[in-house]
Amino acid sequence: AALKAIRDEMGDCQRCKLGATRTNLVFGQGSPNSRLMIIGEAPGADEDEQGLAFVGKAGQLLTKIIEAIGMTRDEVFITNILKSRPPQNRNPEPDEILACQGFLDRQIDAIRPRVIVALGKFAAHWVLKTAEPITRLRGKMGEYKGIPVMPTYHPAYLLRTPSAKKEVCEDMKVVRGMLQD
Ligand code: URA
Repeated sequence: AALKAIRDEMGDCQRCKLGATRTNLVFGQGSPNSRLMIIGEAPGADEDEQGLAFVGKAGQLLTKIIEAIGMTRDEVFITNILKSRPPQNRNPEPDEILACQGFLDRQIDAIRPRVIVALGKFAAHWVLKTAEPITRLRGKMGEYKGIPVMPTYHPAYLLRTPSAKKEVCEDMKVVRGMLQD
């Protein structure tokens, strides 16, 4: 109900310039009481078309990463910093992040996960309120609103750099340990 209220308030969001170019708003999906929340950067072409987070190539790899820690996609909540696709998948711009961040904050408050995984530079920088390079941030637990945060590499980066999967595996093992009772 809390998530639905946030979605309803977003409506046909035109709070930033991306409202004019997106096809579908991508709110995020999954379990509203998940112990694990995964935050990416922004919808790509497939996500924009379907209105769902992480359903393209990077999303398929994310599914494998989730399954590798013994969970399914339905059991986690997956969303992004931006809810609308930037044209040509360019980087999110500061005014867009600003316009969108209140909704992500409210999603986090509604879900209250036990752990947050921040995928890639943009998610890690926003959640941890830092500008340190992702290479230095990854694997080191941080915290947001009292919730432990694991920054790790983005699956789109792993598609280009498969050798970095090893580090993501290590990071996700730590996450798995924190999710066990
Ligand atoms: N990359 C992201 O950061 N998010 C998606 O939803 C898809 C690709």
